[in-house]
Amino acid sequence: KQKAFIFDLDGVIVDTAKYHYLAWQKIANRLGIYFTHEHNELLKGVSRVQSLEIILGLGKVEASQEDKDTWLVEKNEDYLNYITNMEADEILDGVLPVLEWLKESNQPIALGSASKNARPILEKVGIMDYFDAIVDGNDVTNAKPDPEVFLIAAQKLGKTAQDSIVFEDSVAGIQAANIAGMVSIGIGDKSVLNEAQFNFKNFTEIHTQFLQTLVNK
Ligand code: G6P
Ligand code: MG
Repeated sequence: KQKAFIFDLDGVIVDTAKYHYLAWQKIANRLGIYFTHEHNELLKGVSRVQSLEIILGLGKVEASQEDKDTWLVEKNEDYLNYITNMEADEILDGVLPVLEWLKESNQPIALGSASKNARPILEKVGIMDYFDAIVDGNDVTNAKPDPEVFLIAAQKLGKTAQDSIVFEDSVAGIQAANIAGMVSIGIGDKSVLNEAQFNFKNFTEIHTQFLQTLVNK
């Protein structure tokens, strides 16, 4: 049996969620907007443009398109600085064994990320070859919780939504997987990802027995 295994990137495969957070925090601070870790959960999985809208909304700040464009560029430049020296050691614990098991078990694997920086990151950490399909922020028009990114990923792997499994660390991403009718697996805090069908603190908790049950479902 074969299923489509779809991975989010930031906060699931690599520890880049912290860099997105740091970069957004700088923008928020500069605009005098109170922005915490809890607020940051709202941004996870959400596109760059929409993340800025959420931050401005938190501070009830109105801005011109020109200003917004400037801040978006600044945020990304800052983020690119953080990720420039990324290496394989930033792959989160337990991820590689899972990817390896899926490959050995002949299961198709896709990336389903909102990030426009996804490909260079996969290259930096050296795991491009695991992926049979990559769908990222350059390929979609609707941000999570819209299921578009995952539906395209499943389609590229030649699988139905029902035969697809999504690993996500964001509320928006879990919602997207649920809306698509896919199996949603939350990676992270259970109290935050309470809409996920399954939840694990991190990939070290995901054992091959569990993966096998997903394949057999
Ligand atoms: C992911 C992250 C978000 C980020 C988005 C866009 O979904 O979880 O925090 O804002 O991608 O990333 P980008 O690299 O294109 O700014
Ligand atoms: Mg994520």
